[in-house]
Amino acid sequence: MSLENDLQRAADIINEAESVTVVSHIDADGISTEAILAQALAREGIPVTSVFVRQLEPMAMRHVPKDGSLKLFADLGAGQQNLLEEHGLSADEVLILDHHVGQPCGTLYPQVNTLDHGITRMSAAGVAYMVAKAIDSTNIDLAKLAVIGNVGDMMARENCGLVGPAREIVSDGVEYGNILVRDHDLNCYGTSTRPIHTCLGYCDDPYIDGISNNTNAALRFLERLGVELKNPRGGWLVWEELPFDDRRTIISALVQQLIAYGRDTDRLLAETYIFPDEPERTPLRNASEYATLLNACGRWAKPRTGSSICHGERGEAYRDAEQMLAHHRTVIRDLLQYILEAGVTELSHLQYIHTGDRFPDTIVGIGAGMALSKLNWKKPMMVLSAMVDEPEMTKVSMRTNEWAIARGVDLQEALVEAAAEVGGAGGGHRIAAGAFIPHDTEEVFVDGVNRILKRQFAQADTDDC
Ligand code: C5P
Ligand code: C5P
Ligand code: C5P
Repeated sequence: MSLENDLQRAADIINEAESVTVVSHIDADGISTEAILAQALAREGIPVTSVFVRQLEPMAMRHVPKDGSLKLFADLGAGQQNLLEEHGLSADEVLILDHHVGQPCGTLYPQVNTLDHGITRMSAAGVAYMVAKAIDSTNIDLAKLAVIGNVGDMMARENCGLVGPAREIVSDGVEYGNILVRDHDLNCYGTSTRPIHTCLGYCDDPYIDGISNNTNAALRFLERLGVELKNPRGGWLVWEELPFDDRRTIISALVQQLIAYGRDTDRLLAETYIFPDEPERTPLRNASEYATLLNACGRWAKPRTGSSICHGERGEAYRDAEQMLAHHRTVIRDLLQYILEAGVTELSHLQYIHTGDRFPDTIVGIGAGMALSKLNWKKPMMVLSAMVDEPEMTKVSMRTNEWAIARGVDLQEALVEAAAEVGGAGGGHRIAAGAFIPHDTEEVFVDGVNRILKRQFAQADTDDC
């Protein structure tokens, strides 16, 4: 079936439902996915209830109600179809909207999975948006939420941003008027919220010698360029507010600085997505900061706060989210520092660290991704962490990069296989995957993953010949 047919079938299933339960994931993509679906369904007058889960695992299935509603699994489900079957769900009460690698079972659940159509750079929010648009073509105001999901799940391509069907979603938002695209923009966190020297001083990917980790030096660097850094009232401007020419002047100087220190300039620039309908100088103003805000809500157990924000609520929910965002960013920094200071154990084909119960298992994957670029980036990175609420289980998160993928690495395959060998369960993508395993099998499991990665690297070598 073509993608269009899959989308139309999904829209038909939803339109015929008396009521819907959306089961979604707690990260930025999962929250924006839920918000798209809940709004699109409410507009059709279909009653919706939402359930957020950390991961679709046996314990989480308790939260899936046994009632007559259509169960809409979004940003999860494709990799856990056997669980749906074990839970007694039949094909006519389930719809899966996902972008994770599927693990089919005996029941043929209806689904839209972009991977089935060769689309790798699309988040679940993008899938949800395409379904919302198939339900009613006027739903294009929701494109903005799909862009947040795509950016949150890192679906953009370095240098050219969102591509393929994800690009068409951006165009819908531009047409509707709630997205502005800036190409070759500064790829630093805080371009809508932080004074420019703070934004640059906190940026360490890419590492800019003489600027990264030193906001005072960053300020002196900017002052030497003669760019106006303050508004007429004397307050600091943020990057987004700078005139075009000043942004170019600063970017040229940063490029020169990187080149002078023999560093790669690739990561300095990215396409950014600005939301002109949101209040200025808030994290809601661009896709990257908005996604981080949602991640903060979800990973700190308040996905509903994130969802309310996506629905347009701005009062108490927003203040709550801002606090979680500040906390989230502090803990992520601590996590990265811990990994770098404690050091990883290197095996032949992977590197790993066990963070014990120091950090919540919901954020260790983010740390794995950040640490990878600072460690041996050729070896896939694994973080193991204790699950406080399920002490007999260990959470595993892995991250790799395009370099390793081009050499045959597939973390989803490796974790599914190695987890199954020890009685656990894994899933995800080639580039980012996770698993839950019994805690007394950690050693065997790590060795198993190393063995599978060795096989994957070797296989690709043979394929090349
Ligand atoms: O749950 P889920 O699919 O949403 O998680 C995907 C994860 O993969 C995210 O944490 C995202 O940051 C990560 N990712 C990555 N590198 C990419 C693409 C995605 O680390 N190139
Ligand atoms: O939790 P983490 O961010 O490391 O997850 C990386 C990817 O692996 C996500 O796409 C997540 O949905 C998936 N995952 C999974 N099964 C698990 C844990 C994570 O499919 N048990
Ligand atoms: O877009 P491109 O085809 O270059 O994607 C490179 C690889 O990254 C693909 O194999 C894709 O499956 C993988 N990827 C992924 N999960 C993501 C992002 C990219 O598996 N979240």
